[in-house]
Amino acid sequence: IPSKLAATPPMGWSSWNKFAEHIDDKTVRAMADAMVSSGLRDAGYTYINIDDGWQGKRDANGVLQPNEKFPDMKALTDYVHAKGLKIGIYSSQGPRTCAGYEGSYGHVAQDAKSFADWGFDYLKYDLCSGEWFYADADTVKRSYHEMGAALQATGREMIFSLCEYGRFDVGSWGRDVGGQLWRTTGDITDDYETMAKIGFDKNGDAAHAGPHGWNDPDMLEIGNGGMSADEYRTHMTLWAMSAAPLMMGHDLRETDAATLAMLTNRRIIAIDQDARGVQGKAVRKQGALEIWAKPLADGRVALALFNRGTQGATMALTPADAGLSGIAQVEDQWSGATTAALPGSYSVPAHGAVMVVVKGR
Ligand code: GLA
Repeated sequence: IPSKLAATPPMGWSSWNKFAEHIDDKTVRAMADAMVSSGLRDAGYTYINIDDGWQGKRDANGVLQPNEKFPDMKALTDYVHAKGLKIGIYSSQGPRTCAGYEGSYGHVAQDAKSFADWGFDYLKYDLCSGEWFYADADTVKRSYHEMGAALQATGREMIFSLCEYGRFDVGSWGRDVGGQLWRTTGDITDDYETMAKIGFDKNGDAAHAGPHGWNDPDMLEIGNGGMSADEYRTHMTLWAMSAAPLMMGHDLRETDAATLAMLTNRRIIAIDQDARGVQGKAVRKQGALEIWAKPLADGRVALALFNRGTQGATMALTPADAGLSGIAQVEDQWSGATTAALPGSYSVPAHGAVMVVVKGR
């Protein structure tokens, strides 16, 4: 099932990290409003995604109805579309979703049609519900293929986001079932340990990432308050270097100035969204220090210096880290400043990150 969607990693917002099941029509509309008024939409964040907790019961014909918190899905998608945004929804292939709501089991084509009729542009499809969680590779692949095909059969373009936690080497078959992104891990939480574990070590096989198909190390926690500014900078730097989907997970109405600056830094976003679509990775590691490289479409190379330790460090960078013999120009991506040529050294705070883009001679 070839796809034209998601030429670059999807960007947007999802309800789960902040609101979990406490999500309703009013809050979704408020997020769409805030996405626009904050400037986040214009920085590239397009999707407003409803995660688990919207589902009600099926009617006599088996058509899934939203619960009382979502009185009119079509009106809601119209509202979000009118803001120049897109909107996503969530389901799971078992009889129940991860939070225990009605799943799509036995109603796959019917649900895909409802999502299309309601005007959704994106489906996140989870893997939960008793024995489904432990299903074998064939069953899991088949069930994702079934929904992927059902979405395409609706004729409406919908991004298909696979959420089976990176099992069965999902990157090697995610595109074949119609997926544009696939989770590589269990759930992120708003703490450095979990974020770093995922971002550094469980971000998926880079060989499978590229235009129309992305490893998804889960949604962002930036703005939720559990990490320091340096740690959130590492979170954003890692996700951008990894060409990861950038799905914000905080209350957009409460985005403070520092958070907004971090999320809308156009140089950092450009690295994530680079047209070449290469997932960057570590090229050098020394204890708690890691240097990552990501080659860009224009021939330049993004380099990130990460300090996973609890003490500040001075880190050296050489042209060889970028696979280059000489460097003509170095631009700090967080500040935009042009810095001295390489080899050079950078001071990187504890749990912090530096990102530069270098141009060969
Ligand atoms: C799983 C997913 C989360 C979220 C919840 C909803 O845990 O990994 O991202 O969608 O289900 O119940």
